[in-house]
Amino acid sequence: MPEVIYLNGALVSLTEAVVPVDDRGFLFGDAIYEVVRSYNGRLWCFERHLRRLARSLEEIDMAYVDVAGIGDAIRQTYAASRIPDALIYLQVTRGVAPRSHTYTRDLKPTVLIAVRDITPGVAAVDPNGMTAVTAPDLRWRRCDIKSTNLLPNVLAKTGAHEQGAYEAILVHPDGYVTEGSSTSVFWVRADGPLPAGRVCTIPLGPEVLPSISRGIVVEIVEDEGLPLVEERISLEQFRQVDEIFLASTTPEVCPIITLDGQPVGTGAAGPITKRLQRAFRARVEAGEDAPR
Ligand code: PDD
Repeated sequence: MPEVIYLNGALVSLTEAVVPVDDRGFLFGDAIYEVVRSYNGRLWCFERHLRRLARSLEEIDMAYVDVAGIGDAIRQTYAASRIPDALIYLQVTRGVAPRSHTYTRDLKPTVLIAVRDITPGVAAVDPNGMTAVTAPDLRWRRCDIKSTNLLPNVLAKTGAHEQGAYEAILVHPDGYVTEGSSTSVFWVRADGPLPAGRVCTIPLGPEVLPSISRGIVVEIVEDEGLPLVEERISLEQFRQVDEIFLASTTPEVCPIITLDGQPVGTGAAGPITKRLQRAFRARVEAGEDAPR
């Protein structure tokens, strides 16, 4: 089965899945989204995704949306797909109204769910390492909201692909690394006063998405007894780190072995990254994803 689409209460074919041109998601990007994956017939981190969805809706003044109802719709659409390893895309827009910057709270939200096989996306990622380039972070100041306003991300990721790289790692105008265009970024540093092998990432805040995979990695780092440091890192220092890896729904824990064409550390996936990669897989296989 190629894909299963749910639109506003009904399962429809791809050609029937049409939204009016006055949809505010289309006109303004007035919408939020989630990307959930399943492993072998089970939705991964589903409760966490629903919590983030509720938060995004609150932050864009749409707290009235029935998140539990959307959760049920996702479960049913996913069950109908019979795709064991799926990527589930959810988008909620503010609804349909003649174009006006101001909105009212009486619009019926547009709800789209699309379930597709994740296998091609996973196959595109080599667990032994991928490449990244840096790019300016041109996004707005509420990147903690999972909004569909992804133009800067789209431009950065396409620019990276055109340079032969997998990901664009974004650099804030103030000179520090934020995250990837569609991934969280971690690095490992052996220097400094803390023991070797400290795992670092930017603190959560308006500059980055509260990534579900980031949350799992942070828990794993703590469970493994490794030092975790939430810090901002300048691009200059970032170029000197021992290991870099990405965390996101599709690539899971993904080593970055070159940055802007230069090797990261030894130029191969580092030992801490590999350890966290294995632990992440183990969590997936155990289905250990309940919010802590
Ligand atoms: N992207 N940072 C950004 C900017 C992202 O867009 C994503 C996910 C992540 C990782 O978040 P998570 O672990 O919750 O997948 C970090 C999704 C997958 C996308 O836009 O397709």
